Amino acid sequence: KELLEVADKNGFAVPAFNVYNMESVMGVLKAAEEAKAPIIIQVYPRLMKEETGYFLSPIILAAAEKASVPVCFHLDHGPSELETTRSIRYGATGIMLDGSTLPFEENIALTKKVVDTCAYLDVQVEGELGHVGTTKDDEMDEFTTPEDAKRFVEETGVACLAVAVGTAHGKYSKPPKLDIERIEAIRKATNNTALVLHGGSGVPDEEIKKAVKAGIRKMNFATDICYAFLDCCFDELKKPDRAIAIDSFMKKPIEAVKEFCISRIKLVGAENKA
Ligand code: 13P
Ligand code: ZN
Repeated sequence: KELLEVADKNGFAVPAFNVYNMESVMGVLKAAEEAKAPIIIQVYPRLMKEETGYFLSPIILAAAEKASVPVCFHLDHGPSELETTRSIRYGATGIMLDGSTLPFEENIALTKKVVDTCAYLDVQVEGELGHVGTTKDDEMDEFTTPEDAKRFVEETGVACLAVAVGTAHGKYSKPPKLDIERIEAIRKATNNTALVLHGGSGVPDEEIKKAVKAGIRKMNFATDICYAFLDCCFDELKKPDRAIAIDSFMKKPIEAVKEFCISRIKLVGAENKA
């Protein structure tokens, strides 16, 4: 919430980068430091359910501790109290409770329950209203309405709200067009609540700029981090003189993640905002 307040005052969005292993954390952190940007490092809930979260969380905390810029550790798309409470135990200071596939009243009830529990621990919650699906879905769910958003924010007490305005998770077959007017209307209806845009990979730069101008204050990127990392690994593997020691081999993929993240930091206006 602290980061998002700074973003709100200065009219930019905090980039939220999903990480999967130590090397992606290193790439993301290098980008933040080089671009002097506040960032959110976030983790999908499946990692918190599996052993990976146990090992990855201390690495994220070490990165945040070492960083010369503000870094927040956030749970992404928490589906239930299992992942939200476990993530707090692992050190996350931001939690997303994603009840977007539940009926409206149930989404409100579960989100409010998690907001209330997290408040005891000074941890703030991101909610989702209007389901942001994947690029593989046959069609998009209905977009978030300003009226529902107003009620949701008032009744749950979320610190920020993810909205469905035209994005989806994954690789788009054709570039999405966002409903910018809807973002503005939701902002107005919710007393300028910080809005979150999921599915940032592959959204045209101009659309992202307009969305930030309209009130997006947290912008998520995951798929393109994976492509930056893995495409670089595949390219390296084709080279006969590639490094064999894993740490040496990983240097280029880390750089590839860094370069991608710097480009997004600049795009959302977070450069030099640390
Ligand atoms: P992409 O994978 O489409 O970038 O979406 C990221 C996201 O919303 C993470 O929650
Ligand atoms: Zn998402």
